[in-house]
Amino acid sequence: MHMRAVIAALAAVAAMAAPAAMAQTVKVGVINTYSGPFAVPGQLMDRGITLYMKQHEKDLPPGVKIELIKRDDTGPQPDVAKRLAQELITRDQVQLLAGIVYTPNALAVAPLVTEAKVPLVVMNASTPVITMKSPYIARVSFTLWHSSYPLGQWAAKHDIKTAYTAVSDYAPGADAEEAFIKGFTEGGGKIVGSIRMPLQNPDFAPYLQKAKDANPAALFVFVPAGTQAIAVMKAFGDVGLKQAGIKLIGPGDITTDEGLDAMGDVALDVITMFHYSAVGKAPANAAFVQAYQAEFGKDQMPAFTVVQGYDGMAAIFDVIKAQNGKIDPDKTMALLKGWKYDSARGPIMIDPDTRDIVQNEYLRRVERVNGHLVNTELETIPMVKDPWKVLNAKQ
Ligand code: PHB
Repeated sequence: MHMRAVIAALAAVAAMAAPAAMAQTVKVGVINTYSGPFAVPGQLMDRGITLYMKQHEKDLPPGVKIELIKRDDTGPQPDVAKRLAQELITRDQVQLLAGIVYTPNALAVAPLVTEAKVPLVVMNASTPVITMKSPYIARVSFTLWHSSYPLGQWAAKHDIKTAYTAVSDYAPGADAEEAFIKGFTEGGGKIVGSIRMPLQNPDFAPYLQKAKDANPAALFVFVPAGTQAIAVMKAFGDVGLKQAGIKLIGPGDITTDEGLDAMGDVALDVITMFHYSAVGKAPANAAFVQAYQAEFGKDQMPAFTVVQGYDGMAAIFDVIKAQNGKIDPDKTMALLKGWKYDSARGPIMIDPDTRDIVQNEYLRRVERVNGHLVNTELETIPMVKDPWKVLNAKQ
């Protein structure tokens, strides 16, 4: 009798404790750029994260909660990003990491997530090798090769005989330059000059003057989205390249949707390749834009980092739901490999072999529609894998 009573008492205690034991709060550390001259893409990414949380928190399994712990890396500052990752992992004990706008920061964080086995969902940083730096990294954004390699091929096929390249002097700029030159020259195009522009406090005018003096048919430009994209577009007009008949082309970072109206008419007819346009025709985009404008203002156009933050949260929600809130790092990575989603940019997938994204690339032209400048999609290249990885795959 005594033993039975003890067992019954224990069972009663267990039953009472069960709901509490089942409650799972998953801590997700977000390393993002919230302040300083490089903050625009990060602030927009945060809107995507916020919107997804707001719409889908109710879809989490009973008792499962997500706690986002947000940290500001203040720009391309690898030492800051590394310190924040260290604190999030060791002090806050996050189970997942997400965010990261700038490549140097992602490269600085990669060894830490490998060591601690904390999966990192990269929501922007775009140099191809990032995903190869840790088996615990998956990327929902893009690489510069996704856009710039097919753009080079397109330019060579469309009667552009000569081009000049001008890129920011850091890893993504080097990737954009190399990708464009490869696509363009393989198609028979000729490069008449290439320059790298400083990443910090650039004055674009002297660089664009050099490009103008070389008199190419097209100028290919990559600078980080946000303030610099607006400034380089203004310099393109001020230095008189448009008037000289030089065509501006580049990855969509230089015509981001939220900045187009601020760029003004000089942006008209600029041709870019990219994975998202706010006026894109992917089935999920209309509802996405509507929800975004309901949340952040009728006049606001979502840009690519909004979508990447949103889709990254979709991936995080899916791995949390599949594990009922109990995060195992290896199980998480297995779930991310092959993950598919119907994004506002079109269908996306995480390549199970590389953990990098597979997505449509769109050739776009800046046009004025209903009084606003927009990136009108002209052509679609379906489900592009990072061309750098395809070209450099071990035989
Ligand atoms: C990057 O640092 O990887 C980066 C930042 C902004 C962009 C593209 C790439 O627009």
